Amino acid sequence: MASSTLVCDTQPWKELKAHAEDVKKTHLRDLLSNDERSRSMVIEFDGILLDYTRQQATLETREKLLKLAEVASLKQKINRMYNGEHINSTENRSVLHVALRAPRDAVIQSDGKNVVPDVWNVLDKIQEFSERVRSGSWVGATGKQLKDVVAIGIGGSFLGPLFVHTALQTDPEAIESARGRQLRFLANVDPIDVARNITGLNPETTLVVIVSKTFTTAETMLNARTLREWISSALGPSAVAKHMVAVSTNLTLVEKFGIDPNNAFAFWDWVGGRYSVLLEYCLYPYNIVSKFLKGASSIDQHMYSEPFEKNLPVLLGLLSVWNVSFLGYPARAILPYSQALEKFAPHIQQVSMESNGKGVAIDGVPLPFEAGEIDFGEPGTNGQHSFYQLIHQGRVIPCDFIGVVKSQQPVYLRGEVVSNHDELMSNFFAQPDALAYGKTTEQLQQENVPSHLVSHKTFSGNRPSLSLLLPSLNAYNIGQLLAIYEHRIAVEGFIWGINSFDQWGVELGKSLATQVRKQLHASRTKGEPVQGFNFSTTAMMTRYLQGSAD
Ligand code: F6P
Repeated sequence: MASSTLVCDTQPWKELKAHAEDVKKTHLRDLLSNDERSRSMVIEFDGILLDYTRQQATLETREKLLKLAEVASLKQKINRMYNGEHINSTENRSVLHVALRAPRDAVIQSDGKNVVPDVWNVLDKIQEFSERVRSGSWVGATGKQLKDVVAIGIGGSFLGPLFVHTALQTDPEAIESARGRQLRFLANVDPIDVARNITGLNPETTLVVIVSKTFTTAETMLNARTLREWISSALGPSAVAKHMVAVSTNLTLVEKFGIDPNNAFAFWDWVGGRYSVLLEYCLYPYNIVSKFLKGASSIDQHMYSEPFEKNLPVLLGLLSVWNVSFLGYPARAILPYSQALEKFAPHIQQVSMESNGKGVAIDGVPLPFEAGEIDFGEPGTNGQHSFYQLIHQGRVIPCDFIGVVKSQQPVYLRGEVVSNHDELMSNFFAQPDALAYGKTTEQLQQENVPSHLVSHKTFSGNRPSLSLLLPSLNAYNIGQLLAIYEHRIAVEGFIWGINSFDQWGVELGKSLATQVRKQLHASRTKGEPVQGFNFSTTAMMTRYLQGSAD
């Protein structure tokens, strides 16, 4: 497909449009009665099982989606990404987060240079530093060991590390190695977030890690200055070098800020902010980190080499395109049946919506269809008591159910029918069928439901979902899960023909905030009236200035 051809103008897209109308006529209940279809819609890779039998899709749908992948040059686009070509064309950059977790002997080129040795230099440096902090050979300005870490960052520089850290809370090895230490995340510029994060911490025993690709993000830099002040007012300005480190591509600004360049961990412009899960490793020993990287790398290799019909991220991506562009479902619920994955949906929300929320094709041509999807989610079973009502009887929202075979913290209460984990998983298995089959009027009548309640208790069913079953939730599986979703989102973008690796949409709000900031400063310091804004903004800002001056 030539780059100026929109995917919606291709024959496979048009065929899928017509095919969707046919598929809509068949209830999922009927699709699920075909065991041969079901058998071929369950695949497994490296311990992870994907069951997509409850998608409103037939074997013909899959064939047609694979044709769409072909005409959208999906394989070539994946290859171009792994080969370090500048597929992020608006920023003229490669997209090589796969290099962050590649084995030491891998060769991945960006601009004619193998970047893997550079990655390993930094990983080794992080390992060395974190071991010094953990062992106490690196101490704070007053000679005390650094026990607690505050990670400052926002967007991808916050949500990814937060997700991984939260998920690791279930890995006994990780729990043990973090005992007696805390990792906190300071993201919001709201002073309440600063207060919450430093409450109970002692600057003498705290390490602050600033995670910012650009080292210019307004929120992060204000929070960084605030914590620099917190440290230097307690321990003196020279303490900053002992208590603050940075993860960034902009080492010049890092040094200007007052951080010793030896304590700066570099990364590169070919890593998108939302893919920079460069963990605040100081909390965990390197064997945990290494397992996480290996899990992600296993999926990276699978994505690159597995035929599409058995390729987890590719199939997931194609099914998302099917749901959004052909069945017309704009949202996706991410429902992990694991409390440790409570930050997974917020992270994927950012990766997905920042990547694929675009209005133009990669060559700038306006899209005549809507790309991207609205992602949200909560762990089950909490979500069941929150928004599932709408999913069961209101709008149709394709769901991702994510379950874990083995709980690492099982609880067995005497006298209970099943263990707590079995209880959780009973819901994981029940919900997809409840959504798919629903409940008919006839069933309700047979159950002698009073006639005035029959319509209220009827469930139309035919609501799609897919299930991912992980063997357990250790660092390796967490790495796998993350990479599956990252690649799935890239696949969707490749099919839609957009640039999933830039984020111009966040710029406009940022520049308007700069104008407001200038005005607030001028009004407060020189008493200047609010001007240059519309009636509504002027009135609200004036009221804010009056109220907050009291
Ligand atoms: O929201 C836009 C964004 O650029 C994200 O992509 C990024 O993760 C975040 O801001 C933070 O940027 P930085 O890491 O440069 O501080």
